Amino acid sequence: MEKNIGRLSWGDWIWGLIHVFLDTITQRVWSCHLQPLPEMPAMAGVTCIVTGATSGIGLNTARELAKAGAHVVLAVRNTKAANELIKLWQKDQCANGVPLLDVEALELNLSSLKSVRQFAKDWELQNRPLHILINNAGIFHMAGSERVSEDRLEEHMQVNHLAPSLLTMLLLPSLLRSGPSRVINVSSAMHHLGSLDFEDLNTTPGKKGFNSTAAYSSSKLAQLHFSNVLQRTLPEEANVDIISVHPGEVITNVVRTLPKWLQVAYKFIPFFLFTPLEGARSVLFCATDPHVLEYARAIRASNYPSAPYFSSACTPVSVAKQAMDLDAAFKTWNKTLELVGLPDYYFQRVVSGVPGQAETIETIDEED
Ligand SMILES: NC(=O)c1ccc[n+]([C@@H]2O[C@H](COP(=O)([O-])OP(=O)(O)OC[C@H]3O[C@@H](n4cnc5c(N)ncnc54)[C@H](OP(=O)(O)O)[C@@H]3O)[C@@H](O)[C@H]2O)c1
Repeated sequence: MEKNIGRLSWGDWIWGLIHVFLDTITQRVWSCHLQPLPEMPAMAGVTCIVTGATSGIGLNTARELAKAGAHVVLAVRNTKAANELIKLWQKDQCANGVPLLDVEALELNLSSLKSVRQFAKDWELQNRPLHILINNAGIFHMAGSERVSEDRLEEHMQVNHLAPSLLTMLLLPSLLRSGPSRVINVSSAMHHLGSLDFEDLNTTPGKKGFNSTAAYSSSKLAQLHFSNVLQRTLPEEANVDIISVHPGEVITNVVRTLPKWLQVAYKFIPFFLFTPLEGARSVLFCATDPHVLEYARAIRASNYPSAPYFSSACTPVSVAKQAMDLDAAFKTWNKTLELVGLPDYYFQRVVSGVPGQAETIETIDEED
């Protein structure tokens, strides 16, 4: 039987909780020197995908990238809502006498691995470039009971980790073609409370008493493990970097599962919390700042035990102890590939430039 680090010691758990609490109440202090938005380079000719761009941090990230001149794809489960949003943005641009934004909405439902494969296959068949992939979409059913995805996996783990990891892997050919390119994983300080069962990566519904905080934190820990292995396995000449960022504690629709009265109360404690635009700041910084890539490369060269991770104040910081465990990271990597149905040979083939990845996706589809 595999060793589990599934049980965080009480000491580590309490330390994690203190970390999250201190991070929340001090985030305004650490970021008080920052402008509302980072200075962004001209983004004409840059193609970005932002998942979960219909709400909160993703919405603001997508709009600001488009305002800076990038071609932005809103990868969303609700394309009607995204198209309405696009209409509103364009109306604002017209009203302000500035050029229309270069944006489009495409369907991507992370609760369905089939939808992820379809999205990537369509992208790849069109041979589209991809310079920045922002894995932002996420769920935290704070007061919810356990939910199961279309693939019969625990939903936090699927939406926050497994599906974005599959998306990243299947879009690697486009990222490699377009280098320098980067993948930004919107993480969370809550990973400090995460722990993983490597036998099933906490994906089997009903296995143990469900706790949404543990499910969310563990999905964010798994995402960091996966990023760690991907960043260290990609050769430097691939010109693709994987960067994780904690956006801060932000007032968004992430509280949608709380009782209505608590949602209202939550909106009345804004002093410590960021607005969605402030939440997008560190994500935009990681997606566009040239020094972030220099830092990522220095980290890779130094063989540091985690991939680059930035705070909501746009500063590189350490991840939790359990996110630095390389042995655990490789276990998460292997189990993730197994759960999303990617064959062992896939990564090596993509990195060595074997053409025909759309056909590979086809094969995986047929094996379903
Ligand atoms: N808010 C915070 O304090 C905070 C703190 C740390 C990290 N984060 C992270 O920041 C990211 C953005 O969260 P947010 O606070 O902006 O939350 P949000 O306002 O709830 O936005 C989440 C986005 O994800 C999309 N989404 C949810 N399930 C999806 C699925 N199955 N397929 C495709 N898209 C899906 C949502 O789409 P719909 O509009 O269709 O529901 C929405 O666009 C998440 O990864 C979250 O974990 C947030």
